[in-house]
Amino acid sequence: MESTLDISNLDRTRATFMAAREDFPILQTERNGKPLVFFDSAASAQKPIQVLDAERKFLTEGYANIHRGVYHLSDSATTAYESARDAVARFLGVLESRSIVFTRGATEAINLVAQSFAKSRLKSGQAILLSELEHHANIVPWQMLADELDLRILRIPITDQGEWDLTSLDELLDLNVGMVSVNHVSNALGTINPVKDVIKAAHARGIPVLLDGAQAAPHGLSQIEDLDCDFYAFSSHKLFGPTGVGVLYGKQEHLESMPPFLGGGDMIDKVSFDGTTFAKAPAKFEAGTPNISGGIGLAAAIAYFEQFDAEEIHRYESSLREKLEAGFREIPGLRIFGESENKVSVTSFLIDGVHPHDIATFLDAENMCIRAGHHCCQPLMTRFGIVGTARASLAWYNTEEEVERFVSIIAKIQKFFG
Ligand code: ALA
Repeated sequence: MESTLDISNLDRTRATFMAAREDFPILQTERNGKPLVFFDSAASAQKPIQVLDAERKFLTEGYANIHRGVYHLSDSATTAYESARDAVARFLGVLESRSIVFTRGATEAINLVAQSFAKSRLKSGQAILLSELEHHANIVPWQMLADELDLRILRIPITDQGEWDLTSLDELLDLNVGMVSVNHVSNALGTINPVKDVIKAAHARGIPVLLDGAQAAPHGLSQIEDLDCDFYAFSSHKLFGPTGVGVLYGKQEHLESMPPFLGGGDMIDKVSFDGTTFAKAPAKFEAGTPNISGGIGLAAAIAYFEQFDAEEIHRYESSLREKLEAGFREIPGLRIFGESENKVSVTSFLIDGVHPHDIATFLDAENMCIRAGHHCCQPLMTRFGIVGTARASLAWYNTEEEVERFVSIIAKIQKFFG
């Protein structure tokens, strides 16, 4: 996607997003006379009123448990929840809603694949291929499985620019790899990874691939048909929806062959003390009462998000990030981590002599929110020989004025403390 904008298009885009910004009550708030500047959307995105209203309406007018009652409220709650599954399928470009499993988040989705799919297929001595860019949520579940089954963990190395170095991909995949699990977009650096190359090379060897799409979905990049991955995980809360609900997409043949992950109500076919048979997917993976209002809120978030054009979002967010990074390049002693041409609106950085937590604390006094630390990516920080970075992660609801103010405060921090 190109990042240079035709001016009239940019004006139109800016107007669209400025108007939509009004839908976010929190973005209208101030502290000590300073307007909120929220640059931490990669950690969790803010929620539009449409999502809050959908949850409130369901909880105040339509609430009941699902899949259980014969009364009308339960029936309509079930319909609403299952429509949310349809909305997720459409959002991912998936034909079959039964390929969509609701989870508590992307983390649980990855654990589900590790503990059900991979555990039942991988054998001692085999390897799981990750990358050096992974979030802990896509490392630790595999290490737990590796300990249990005596597997090896391999990783795709990265370049100093924060991109996958795929020169040894074929050799890595030939090291008896039984599963590949990599992120679509890096949370710490913003790199959009060339996942299709990895999927193609893995599939040529019959190796299944899971993509952690937690940072891709909020930027409109999650089109399963195009990606052809075996599994895809993302979280609602980064997509302007509620916390505590996430999604696992899985190819039908995998989901049907996988054993359940958690046992309980709503995932069974028949239970007796002699044994239990299980429901078909996705119910088989959804034991217990789920986050019903969260699922309904996620559907509202998707409907909200889908009113925008994904390419327009990418171009506008890129223009904000490019402005921010251009400003940063004027600041002496400031280093940007993650210099891929192919990035979402995430900028990780350090200022010589200033701890990233001090940068974040100083910004907080200006009512500006960023994340500082290892971003749940300690191996990546080790790769760069640092303990952490400061990270500004923008969404389309941010503005050029916010970026200008932010860069000027960062310049001040460098001047006083650097
Ligand atoms: N994974 C989230 C982040 O990157 C929490 O900040």
